[in-house]
Amino acid sequence: MAFIVAIDGPAGSGKGTITKLVGEKLGLINIDTGAMYRCVTVYMLRNNIKLNEKEKVKKMLKEINIEFKSEKVYLNQEDVTNEIRKTEVNNLVSQVSHLIEIRENITNLSRKVADGKEVIMEGRDIGTNVFPNADVKIYLDASPEERANRRLKQNQEKGIESSYQEILENIKFRDNNDKSSNVAPLKQAEDAIYIDSTNMTIEEVVNKVIDVIKKKG
Ligand code: DC
Repeated sequence: MAFIVAIDGPAGSGKGTITKLVGEKLGLINIDTGAMYRCVTVYMLRNNIKLNEKEKVKKMLKEINIEFKSEKVYLNQEDVTNEIRKTEVNNLVSQVSHLIEIRENITNLSRKVADGKEVIMEGRDIGTNVFPNADVKIYLDASPEERANRRLKQNQEKGIESSYQEILENIKFRDNNDKSSNVAPLKQAEDAIYIDSTNMTIEEVVNKVIDVIKKKG
């Protein structure tokens, strides 16, 4: 039987980590919709497709194939797991995700990937738009400064060069873009449970999310 857990929230709120850990513990399939927008962004950068080139964007959407296989993401059969986290992609992905044609395409793909399965799906609009009838909805938040610190640490662990200031600015810029969008703005679904993870450890957040799921499921 299908069962959907939707985890929404801003960039760097820990959704990725929490979704992965909760998914593993409860045996739910983890689907990262942000990675889908990132794949589209990589394709646009590589092929020099601009945001306002409507025809090229439409054509591109027919040419793109995104797949998830054992924790890796493939764009037209090529492993782009690391490339989708690069700074050039970070800087453009929010704008890419606001193009209506792209949103419709990724929303359909998200629904298709989840069809009939027990999934935990993270994104910006899963509880509000992709799965308004999700069984469990969580809105995961944290202060911008804490989110910048977390991302800096993540980057250092992966050997990616970046500065705290650059990351903080990028987070604030994206928050603003994501919340003020006319197209599926980032906002908490009315029936979502709000969790502020600023002063919580990963383990505490994981346990809290599992508690919420168990109560509902
Ligand atoms: O979670 P992330 O940083 O990988 O997401 C990348 C971008 O994609 C981010 O700017 C917001 C956007 N996004 C979205 O608009 N809707 C989703 N369901 C997931 C991500």
